[in-house]
Amino acid sequence: MMKSFLTKLHNLSTNLNLLRILKLIWSASKTWTAVSIAFIVIESALFFSSLYMLKKLIDTVSKYGISNVQNESEVIKYLSLAALSAISYAAIKAISVYITEKQSGEVAEYIDSKIHESAIGLDLSFYESPEYFDILKRARDMGSDRPNMIVFSIVDIAKNAMSLVVIASMLVAIDWRLFPILALFIIPTLWVRINFADSQNALRIAQTALERKSGYMSTLLTADTHAKEIRSFGLGDYLRKIHTSIRLDLLSGRLKISKRRTYKELITSTIAAIGFFSCIAYIAIGSIHGRTSVGDITLFLVAFPQAFNVLQGLSTSISTLYQNNIFVKSIFELFDLKSSLPEVPNPLPIPEDSLINLEIKNMSFTYPHAKRPTLSDINIKMPAGKIVAVVGMNGAGKSTLIKLMCRLYDPSSGEITLNGIDIRNFQSREFRKQICAVFQDFGKYNVSAADNIRFGDIDGQRREEEIEEAAKNSGADLFIDTFPDRYQTIMGRIFEDGHEVSIGQWQKLAIARAFYSKARFIILDEATSALDANAEKTLFDSFRERIGNRSAIVISHRQSAVKHADYIYMLSNGKIVESGTNEELMALQGHYFKLFNKNSAQNQV
Ligand SMILES: Nc1ncnc2c1ncn2[C@@H]1O[C@H](COP(=O)(O)OP(=O)(O)O)[C@@H](O)[C@H]1O
Ligand SMILES: [Mg+2]
Repeated sequence: MMKSFLTKLHNLSTNLNLLRILKLIWSASKTWTAVSIAFIVIESALFFSSLYMLKKLIDTVSKYGISNVQNESEVIKYLSLAALSAISYAAIKAISVYITEKQSGEVAEYIDSKIHESAIGLDLSFYESPEYFDILKRARDMGSDRPNMIVFSIVDIAKNAMSLVVIASMLVAIDWRLFPILALFIIPTLWVRINFADSQNALRIAQTALERKSGYMSTLLTADTHAKEIRSFGLGDYLRKIHTSIRLDLLSGRLKISKRRTYKELITSTIAAIGFFSCIAYIAIGSIHGRTSVGDITLFLVAFPQAFNVLQGLSTSISTLYQNNIFVKSIFELFDLKSSLPEVPNPLPIPEDSLINLEIKNMSFTYPHAKRPTLSDINIKMPAGKIVAVVGMNGAGKSTLIKLMCRLYDPSSGEITLNGIDIRNFQSREFRKQICAVFQDFGKYNVSAADNIRFGDIDGQRREEEIEEAAKNSGADLFIDTFPDRYQTIMGRIFEDGHEVSIGQWQKLAIARAFYSKARFIILDEATSALDANAEKTLFDSFRERIGNRSAIVISHRQSAVKHADYIYMLSNGKIVESGTNEELMALQGHYFKLFNKNSAQNQV
């Protein structure tokens, strides 16, 4: 037991990244951290002083006897000082609760925002990995007050240690043996608690994946995204059963270690109580035999419960420290994840000239956890101001190509160049500003119609009219104008006053967002699939005017959307099998011709 206790203490000292935790808290809330620590110090000083005055009082009384008039003033002095300390202690304690709350609030906010910052800084490949979701979940579950709790447990330990010294000196004055006896009885409690924290942590890590699964089932059952299907397929009971069975599994795991802890705590608290009563017996018998005085007994009765409390407090703070430290490691685990898209140390500036050419050269790409490449040996030229179309069956690799062009992934081999420079030489954030893609699974933001469009250039200082121009260009103005609050109407039905629109109307908002952006390349990845035939035809018939002098890449399953393109690439199984203009490809009577000449394929979305 002793060995494992020491190992745990050793783990605690090596794992406790105190400096890093302190730095984190300090950056979050300098003033309030300093103030709250100062208050804690004052609080404990007042606690000691009230205790010390009581000791003085007892000393005075027991030395001269209560009836001695000479000492009346001394008694009154100590009594009032003790009372004053006690009152101030209570007052400071009450104020420090507020201060600590303010400080923890700031720290919690800061940590939350750091968690979000880390998450958003990671590239898309993290979203392919279950391990990442596990780390993210652990970091979020940790609760942002844990680092703070570590600092306060340390302050608590110091406070308790100081109390211990004061009380120990009182106990030692009675009989020095009382102290080690007491300590010996408390240590098993501490050991059980630290052990529990350890097994709880191991369980938490082991259960993260299952916890996520149960969270997923619960989302399926409660969120609006699947509400329609779950009802029409009658999946409710089935999903509920799965959810309940996972929850029961999780609970039984937790109960198992809780049960072990309860047994052990029963034993250790019995041991502690035996210790307490042995000491009382020792003192009482001592007083019968005249070894201890009445003053000693009085002092003992004041100091002993305090000592007991302080030792208990100490064991609680140490185990809390241990437990919280394990938790805090989860957020550092997240903070330490680095994006796998390397940023060059000295990024090149994005070319200023209005004409920029993008080119994909001999590019192949395999997804992080995939076995086979999704794209092989791709060569595509996108000259400035031109419209390029990419067509191909489902799963051909079109969207993957777009993700690479937005530098959401890096190619496995080959390169993408901007005016001849490999895009990896630019800062990815700056590069992404050049390209604006409307993805197949575009975002439906439950904010105002205006903000849905403004998200296309959130940092830009732009005129409000530009939002309306973008909406006109995509055709979104047709429905926005029917709302009484027009552009201020909240979209979607998540929030009160929200206004749900059809999927095609959402798509028009997403296209308006792309038009509003300052990007020099606009990509529409099946972004008109939900538009009615008229709206789509209107959009593409005058597409060149709508995009101004920008370049565009259009992906669509409808010939009407791609036939105006300057150049068309046909993708099949991750390879380019044909390329040319609409007329050339139709004349070729190959893949492209077959894709659009079959009615079934024509209507494919
Ligand atoms: N995140 C991913 N991880 C692994 N494979 C993926 C991922 N996304 C897509 N794929 C695979 O890549 C292939 C091409 O997908 P995608 O580019 O979306 O096709 P398209 O847009 O042409 O329909 C598909 O076979 C799909 O299974
Ligand atoms: Mg796609």
